[in-house]
Amino acid sequence: MTATAPRPSSAAATAKDDYTSFCEGIRALTSIDLLQYKRGQMERRIRSFAQRRGESDLTVYLGLLRRDRGELEEFLDRVTINVSQLWRNPEQWTVLEREILPELIARSSAGRVRAWSAGCSYGAEAYTLAALFRQLDQRTRAEIVGTDIDRRMVERAKLGRFSDEDARSASRTVLERWFARDGDEWQASRELRALTRFEVGDLLRVQPRREAYDLVLCRNTVIYFTEDVRDALHERLVTSIRPGGYFVIGSTERVSRPRELGLVSTHPFTYRKS
Ligand SMILES: C[S@@+](CC[C@H](N)C(=O)[O-])C[C@H]1O[C@@H](n2cnc3c(N)ncnc32)[C@H](O)[C@@H]1O
Repeated sequence: MTATAPRPSSAAATAKDDYTSFCEGIRALTSIDLLQYKRGQMERRIRSFAQRRGESDLTVYLGLLRRDRGELEEFLDRVTINVSQLWRNPEQWTVLEREILPELIARSSAGRVRAWSAGCSYGAEAYTLAALFRQLDQRTRAEIVGTDIDRRMVERAKLGRFSDEDARSASRTVLERWFARDGDEWQASRELRALTRFEVGDLLRVQPRREAYDLVLCRNTVIYFTEDVRDALHERLVTSIRPGGYFVIGSTERVSRPRELGLVSTHPFTYRKS
């Protein structure tokens, strides 16, 4: 795996070694391979987090993570950046609502549309999709799977609860139609929860079923990966899309060679598989 940050001095070379050993230790402990993520930002994040916890030596800090489950959970929280929200990047949802979902519903085989939120965090993307499906059509069966490497996020996603901050981009009418106010949170309706399923999984390891989905969303997840890792992941995700299905990426991301993957761009950050 290529390191993104150049390391000119010998002191920095030592730093490189302890960072690599640290990542190998984390992989042994959690199966999460941090060496596949862009080194510059990941290393900065890890070193500053360890320092704030009172330990600047990564080897010593790894020992602490091995002994202290709570510390390990907080550490993983820091490195797996779970930011999300309902209707995140509303312009992408407008395209999905007006053009893509109606098309998928109209030509759904056996009255069923399957979608995958790859890197789903606490489920905001999957529930947004579920609300749009139901808003557009009550009959078509939709199955929305969310996958994330962070077990705690997956448990949260199953609950379907969102804060006002999470709901800030949602239209009030749609929100109130599909989510119930419960205390100071929004609870996804039973109907939406019936459409969604969440599972723990490492996108860098899973082998998705070929042509299993009509729509795959992988937004704001690959930004932390090196370009090689991102491209290999995109390629694998695209194999899981049926011909005529769609692939949606985050609004700061790119697919390196869409034509080689059989993708045609239809809207910004959106591709149709030919
Ligand atoms: C910033 S969130 C994006 C959530 C949602 N897709 C969105 O756009 O709002 C990125 C998520 O990717 C997950 N993630 C990072 N590496 C992953 C991996 N190798 N496999 C599965 N999920 C991963 C993180 O745990 C995090 O929840």
